[in-house]
Amino acid sequence: MTFDVETVRKDFPILSTKMRGRDLVYLDSAASSQKPEAVISAISDFYSAHYANIHRGVYQLSAEATQRYEDVRSLVARFIGAPDPREIIFVRNATEAINLVARTWGEQQIGNGDEIVLTTMEHHANIVPWQMLAERQGASIRVAAVTDDGVLDLEHLKRLLGPRTKLLAVTAVSNALGTINPINTLTSLARDRGITTLVDGAQAAPHQSVDVKALGCDFYVLSGHKVFGPSGAGVLYGRLPLLESMPPFLGGGDMIESVSFEGTTFAPVPQKFEAGTPDIASVIGFGAAIEYLEAIGMDQISAYEQTLLTYATERLLKIPGLRIIGTAKEKAAVISFVLEDAHPHDIGTILDGEGIAIRAGHHCAQPLMKRMGVPATARASFSFYNTRDDVDSLVEALRKTQEIFA
Ligand code: ALA
Repeated sequence: MTFDVETVRKDFPILSTKMRGRDLVYLDSAASSQKPEAVISAISDFYSAHYANIHRGVYQLSAEATQRYEDVRSLVARFIGAPDPREIIFVRNATEAINLVARTWGEQQIGNGDEIVLTTMEHHANIVPWQMLAERQGASIRVAAVTDDGVLDLEHLKRLLGPRTKLLAVTAVSNALGTINPINTLTSLARDRGITTLVDGAQAAPHQSVDVKALGCDFYVLSGHKVFGPSGAGVLYGRLPLLESMPPFLGGGDMIESVSFEGTTFAPVPQKFEAGTPDIASVIGFGAAIEYLEAIGMDQISAYEQTLLTYATERLLKIPGLRIIGTAKEKAAVISFVLEDAHPHDIGTILDGEGIAIRAGHHCAQPLMKRMGVPATARASFSFYNTRDDVDSLVEALRKTQEIFA
């Protein structure tokens, strides 16, 4: 199937709605992506005709709901190249997945004097759980630098990987700048030194195909709501031997083998990490999102988005006084920028008046903003349902913004 953006747009009902009397221009997919009809109807159909709790009922409806939920686990495994569906743990989002690893693997493996290596371009979700862990365990955080272009300084990172390094936790794509990190190089550096790796794939999975086996990482996390699924379903991938050796995270129903007041034994992976009733319908919706993406093809999506990124970059750079923050050669379709004289929040508000949704602020990446020498940026993040017309609307609205502040 050839990629056709106009056909794709028809799959997303919200894209034909009006915002402030104009056609909605949605340029905030890095915060959360819009949902195709296939996802919306899968959720509605599940609640209308198939809903029951899973892993519990002996009746047909529950057995079928369980089957559907477990089928999505297999689908996710295939989507991200995990060899075994048991390596897929359903959580709420990437943040929860990272916290799960910090609370379980982290508390088991990281001790006094150990080191955790992060990068300056991490989202707060890949900083704060490790800081909290380091505090509890007496470990320390070391931070790899980024260059003025917003590229990871590999030489600096290499120097940080030492005999006390236990974990390298790094984002695959920067949410604030769009920089794509060389994950294979990083995991290979870590593996040579016996260091465990966690990859934050929240901003990568919506833009490119993912193969955790080829990436060679130990853990990979993502949020379903950024990958065109509903909010409430996220994924932790972990290599099976690691997951099996880890203690449970939350205790409760569905994660046990047997319970008595003398002691409890735990269910095998993945149930060990899925206490309580999960967000079943969101997982079902996420499954529909994956099927939808697979039908289009992640490679086609990446190729289209790259042409859009090039077009948007060229057009934005022609606006006098506009500076793009994050100019790495390898970027996903995210453009952060500042405009002379206009604060990013003002840009966001003025664009909103034109029906254009962008994000303005520190993007949950305050250390990165500090490094880039800006308190905040305006960020346009694109997806495969965006068009050149969307870019043109953005450029026109930015020119108007400049006139207001001139
Ligand atoms: N992490 C999301 C973003 O970057 C919310 O916008």
